[in-house]
Amino acid sequence: MSDVQRALVLAKPDAVRRHLVGRIIARYEAKGLDVIALELRRVSVTLASQHYAEHVERPFYQSLIDFITSGPLVAMVIEGEHAIEAVRAINGATDGVKAAPGTLRGDFCVSNQQNLVHASDSPASAAREIALWFPDLR
Ligand code: TYD
Ligand code: MG
Repeated sequence: MSDVQRALVLAKPDAVRRHLVGRIIARYEAKGLDVIALELRRVSVTLASQHYAEHVERPFYQSLIDFITSGPLVAMVIEGEHAIEAVRAINGATDGVKAAPGTLRGDFCVSNQQNLVHASDSPASAAREIALWFPDLR
């Protein structure tokens, strides 16, 4: 069934430092998804904590906030048929060591924190995250 969705995607600071942003975006585009908003930005601790609020009790939370605020990242909104599932399939499993070859994390990283990309995991989280990062997007 047709279901056009939007997902918030971050090419995290490691992706920017490692000059992988172009290749990351190219994979979403090659799949047939549309980039409908995109911005290079530095992230405040306030925005980072709102973004990762669901993880506040996890042992890795503080290092995750330190990492995501460690340098500029590229935030984008990706739109297309089943975009939420499609983007997460392209990204691969959270831990780069376990992520399947052919996925972004599987091909380009070996970390479960510096893992290049974030993507919304449900329509509800996509709506929340897009409102947080791109409040003016219609
Ligand atoms: P999570 O939402 O579980 O993964 P995903 O990014 O695949 O949706 O976790 C969010 C981020 O938290 C993850 O991308 C990297 C970081 N993280 C750690 O630093 N250590 C961990 O053990 C886990 C599970 C995640
Ligand atoms: Mg997640």
